[in-house]
Amino acid sequence: MNDLTAFLDLGWSVIKTGVADGTSPARYPTLSTVSPDGWPEARTLAVRHADRTLMLVESHTDITSDKLRSLAQSPRIGYHFWDPATQIQIRLWTTVEVVTGDAVAPLWDRIPPNSRLSYGETPSPGTPIPTATAYVKEPDPTAFGVLRCTIQKMDVVDLNVPHRRAHFERSDQWAGTWLAP
Ligand SMILES: Cc1cc2nc3c(=O)[nH]c(=O)nc-3n(C[C@H](O)[C@H](O)[C@H](O)COP(=O)(O)O)c2cc1C
Repeated sequence: MNDLTAFLDLGWSVIKTGVADGTSPARYPTLSTVSPDGWPEARTLAVRHADRTLMLVESHTDITSDKLRSLAQSPRIGYHFWDPATQIQIRLWTTVEVVTGDAVAPLWDRIPPNSRLSYGETPSPGTPIPTATAYVKEPDPTAFGVLRCTIQKMDVVDLNVPHRRAHFERSDQWAGTWLAP
């Protein structure tokens, strides 16, 4: 009940479930950025990879999408997970590296053809179009990017009774501290 390391493990188990299980709500966190003119922006992205040792998570995106303009100005992403099955909320504060080209070619090769359609669209995502379907999707490896998100801070909330909440951060080697929920 009072073991911070076990509580961090609990948070990580939810993230890992999201990576492994496409039917888990934890597969689809909300990712937030800040637009170049200062607006908060939130949208759903799949979490594709997570590394507990390096404390990073990864998502994939079309690098011609608007979020890349936001990341160019402020290379930070907030992740928000809510897993009803475990009653756990997780928030991550991450710094972001956008990885493209040769570095992600082996990954691109493993993406099923149908899923590749998510990367490569004319006109680019977010462009105004005259009718709902006036766009073409064609897989384009040069549009594929990995958002490599290094976790700097993590907040875990457990809504099981008694409610528990803790904050962890890289700067104190993830030792963590309990917070009033
Ligand atoms: C369930 C679901 C999963 C999604 N997964 C992704 C994803 O993995 N990568 C992605 O770039 N967009 C994904 N999207 C679309 C984004 O939510 C968003 O509409 C798109 O990336 C454009 O965002 P932007 O204009 O902020 O750049 C997903 C949307 C839904 C509803």
